[in-house]
Amino acid sequence: MSRLRVGIIGTGYIGNVHARIYARDERVEISALYDIIHEKAEKTARSVGGRVCRSREELFENCDAVLVCTPNKTHVEIAIDALRHEKHVFCEKPFAIGLESARLLLEEAQKSKCKFQVGHNRRFAPVYVKLRELLRSDQPHSAHIKMNRGELKNPAWTGDPNITGGFLYETTIHLFDMIRYQFGEISELVAYGSQHEYPELDEFSMIFKFKNGFHCTFASSSDASWLFPFERIEVFCHHRTILTQEMESLIDSKEMDANFEFLSFSMLEKEERWGYVQEDKAFVDSILEGLTPPVTALDGYKSVEIVESVYRAIKSGEKISF
Ligand SMILES: NC(=O)c1ccc[n+]([C@@H]2O[C@H](COP(=O)([O-])OP(=O)(O)OC[C@H]3O[C@@H](n4cnc5c(N)ncnc54)[C@H](O)[C@@H]3O)[C@@H](O)[C@H]2O)c1
Repeated sequence: MSRLRVGIIGTGYIGNVHARIYARDERVEISALYDIIHEKAEKTARSVGGRVCRSREELFENCDAVLVCTPNKTHVEIAIDALRHEKHVFCEKPFAIGLESARLLLEEAQKSKCKFQVGHNRRFAPVYVKLRELLRSDQPHSAHIKMNRGELKNPAWTGDPNITGGFLYETTIHLFDMIRYQFGEISELVAYGSQHEYPELDEFSMIFKFKNGFHCTFASSSDASWLFPFERIEVFCHHRTILTQEMESLIDSKEMDANFEFLSFSMLEKEERWGYVQEDKAFVDSILEGLTPPVTALDGYKSVEIVESVYRAIKSGEKISF
């Protein structure tokens, strides 16, 4: 059986993560690589193979599926171009910057016969898969969430809102997608934000209410140091707290006694602990088996909608209803 030919656009940090994973998948051939810095694509090709292309057009001629692994502001244009060349698309987060371009990409993805998956890897991280499983058998009431970064200096473009779209697009969007995945659709939110270290809003406090009555507080800071855990979800149920700490561990504390269960995922390789291996497998499964990808263009659109609603709430000082 011939292998699925995968092309990678943008062979920086995350492009290489996916490249290493697909190099181990027998169903896949990394057939083409393109980066505006040619040497970066050449370097990746030396470790995983693949034709080093001089243009996107050349890449499209040499693959069936495309991974869009370039900086945020380029995603929509590249992903639409790939869909128009009838390629399956895996697009890194964020899906888009701004509702207008998100709508354009959503329409393009929905009318295409090709598969489209968004890189919200955390949905596949074992800690969050476990959290979802536990919440399915209980009734969560509320949660306290944080998603921080130590800095916006590395890579340098992460501190440039003209490229990222803003801190919420670069980082917090991961857990915006996660709260929909774990708790359902949002009905309203209020938010406060301020600016300190970077030329954009870089500190956020938010409260979300969901259509099913669930509610949560959510803090997100871009200059908080890398104190562990920079990412944490604490969910409160009936006489129960479930706590996740980054992709490392989950604590389940039930009833009135002092005992709790502690699950550690730290023995897993990072690429699996963070869900990259599983999301890459799911993308190929969806193509080869004709399945709907687990993180759709509509999920991507909704994550952008949350980001935009938070920025709007801060600007207007008003509660936003969905
Ligand atoms: N899902 C995750 O956990 C995760 C982690 C890191 C990054 N990301 C996302 O992946 C994307 C890339 O991030 P990164 O950390 O790998 O950045 P990076 O700077 O390491 O790599 C980006 C690469 O894209 C290349 N590039 C830029 N514009 C291009 C263009 N128009 N055409 C072709 N190549 C181009 C650059 O030369 C660079 O090699 C970002 O959108 C980021 O938000 C997601």
